[in-house]
Amino acid sequence: MEFSIRAALPQNVKTGCLVLGVYQGEGAAAPSLTRAAAAADRAARGRLAEALARGDLSGKAGATLLLHGIPGIAAERVLLVGLGEHQGFAETAYRSAVRGAGAALRELGARDAVVYLADVKVARRPPVWNVRHAVLGLRDAFYRFDQLKTQKKPPAPRLASVALAVPGGAVSAPMREALREAAATADGVALARTLGNLPPNICTPAYLAEEARKLARQFKLRLQVLERRDMERLKMGALLSVTRGSHQPPKMIVLHYAGGPMSQAPLVLVGKGITFDTGGISLKPAGEMDEMKFDMSGAGSVLGALRALAGMRAPVNVVGIVPACENMPGGAASRPGDIVTTMSGQTVEILNTDAEGRLILCDALTYAERLKPDAVVDIATLTGACVIALGHVASGLYANDEKLGEALRAAGDDAWDRVWPMPLWEDYQEQLRSNFADLANIGGRPAGSVTAACYLSRFAKKLRWAHLDIAGVAYKSGREKGSTGRPVPLLVRFALTRAGR
Ligand code: BES
Ligand code: MN
Ligand code: ZN
Repeated sequence: MEFSIRAALPQNVKTGCLVLGVYQGEGAAAPSLTRAAAAADRAARGRLAEALARGDLSGKAGATLLLHGIPGIAAERVLLVGLGEHQGFAETAYRSAVRGAGAALRELGARDAVVYLADVKVARRPPVWNVRHAVLGLRDAFYRFDQLKTQKKPPAPRLASVALAVPGGAVSAPMREALREAAATADGVALARTLGNLPPNICTPAYLAEEARKLARQFKLRLQVLERRDMERLKMGALLSVTRGSHQPPKMIVLHYAGGPMSQAPLVLVGKGITFDTGGISLKPAGEMDEMKFDMSGAGSVLGALRALAGMRAPVNVVGIVPACENMPGGAASRPGDIVTTMSGQTVEILNTDAEGRLILCDALTYAERLKPDAVVDIATLTGACVIALGHVASGLYANDEKLGEALRAAGDDAWDRVWPMPLWEDYQEQLRSNFADLANIGGRPAGSVTAACYLSRFAKKLRWAHLDIAGVAYKSGREKGSTGRPVPLLVRFALTRAGR
């Protein structure tokens, strides 16, 4: 879907579908019109207000009403979208409205649409925020993953281009820039979603490496792929212990995007790339085990963020590191009780082979030191405990640097891809004590997400580091099962704010 942005009078735009916002009326009052909708209504001699007075649209955020043959208006159709209450109109209502409009547009035969939502004031947010969220919300509504269905595919939506419009004045340079950035971000989200949705027999470590190769070719990025023998040479004993049970060769992807000055130390993003997590010898129960194909969502979000930043030519230096392997049981698999030596030199007693994410990440963090990073952020579907703590709303945020943590929190708020701070207190470290090695890979049931983060912190002492536990937000279960592409919007916004955008 192509996006553009322009200033135009709504009544004059020739388009398949004109999208206008209406606020919910207070009490029994009919919904009220936005500035653009009011202008269109005047040209239409009150036909829009008339439809609303008949009570055909509640004005609830996301509700829609489609009108045809409106006189005085050049567009073929008018789609009225409810914005909710005018008083205190804020982020959630705006996002619902965009989603509602997207769902309605998907069902239409229109090839193009002009959407007047960019200039509707959202409390505390500048117009660029509206632009970003309009693009991301609409692209989200149009995302499909049906490449593996051979029958009864729903027809592809016809809508090919969307113009965001403001009724008067000129479109500002920051708004144009926001549009370009958001379109690239949406490409990154779509990539992360597709990688997550692909089945584990297709999306293997080698497939992820091939995908990184494609990005490197398309955007001229530097790519290194470490093979098993490289991991052996680097003494990545923890990562190697996880891959032992699998027939799929492990890969460690290192993808460099250099959009900033040479002198600028890079931001390093490390993504957990377990392409399937059976639990290993500490085997998971059968129910919903298929969802462990999403255990590479951290990896998908790193590749997605790099795709976004490279696609928009962001002025930042970012390196993505993706340790990728499967966690399988088998005769060669590691056992509970095995002790391995990590790349850092610290020894780890593997008390549960299902706590594999931290084992691959700890070696990736040690490897990250070589890149002399300004900051390192790892992203991982690390613990079921984080889902219990924060549900499917926020990612768990851990940081050994307060400023870094705060910057991530703020970026998450702005991107509506939120995180919530969790403690890394010393008090929790004793749960990781081992009688036989430097530390154990599990800390028992209490505070499971915290002790997983505490484990990682032992390998991040030389880094300015943060960890995002995305187990609750990376994908949905049930009827809506599928990858969400989170936290690509957060990572992109975070990288851009570092560059002052
Ligand atoms: N990939 C899982 C975490 C997970 C669980 C993600 C549910 C999404 C939904 C991770 O590798 C894991 O198995 N963690 C264990 C850790 C435990 C053994 C200490 C868990 O959360 O149960
Ligand atoms: Mn596991
Ligand atoms: Zn896992």
